[in-house]
Amino acid sequence: MTQIEEAWEYAEADTQYHVHGLHSYPARMIPQIANRLIQMKSKPGELVLDPFCGSGGVLVESLLAGRNAIGVDINPLAHLIALVKTTSLELQTLAEFAENLLAWVRKDIYSKGGNAQCSATLFQKHLSLVQEECSRGTGNSQECDSQDCSKGTS
Ligand SMILES: C[S@@+](CC[C@H](N)C(=O)[O-])C[C@H]1O[C@@H](n2cnc3c(N)ncnc32)[C@H](O)[C@@H]1O
Repeated sequence: MTQIEEAWEYAEADTQYHVHGLHSYPARMIPQIANRLIQMKSKPGELVLDPFCGSGGVLVESLLAGRNAIGVDINPLAHLIALVKTTSLELQTLAEFAENLLAWVRKDIYSKGGNAQCSATLFQKHLSLVQEECSRGTGNSQECDSQDCSKGTS
């Protein structure tokens, strides 16, 4: 009789790490399971094909594990989410883009007052985190406390 030697139970695991929590999508593969299967069945530098890639969970784990990855999905939304999650960006480019966006927010929305001020403050916080990471030269994401602006201003 075949025995399952290791637990494949991830009910309590954080399944939203890295970019996995960027967007919801039905029936996503648990990333820890994808990672284990990729490690078991492929080697670094090899190619992983997910012909039903959904929002790209397997593709992301493949890239994180040093594999190449190709995904196919019939759903255009799945294609878009998977593309966003697997496109690597230079932090410096991202920071410059964020700066420009913030300038636009200030110019176009600040002048209208109200909640715009809080949105811009929250956005500034995220921008600071990106800049901090750029200066450290790391790609690790950071949690941002959005509580104080989550209810908006009146
Ligand atoms: C369970 S999801 C895949 C989850 C994904 N492997 C992951 O990493 O999270 C199944 C996907 O199969 C796609 N699908 C269903 N029929 C398909 C077909 N004939 N060709 C391509 N994709 C298809 C659906 O659009 C859906 O996104």
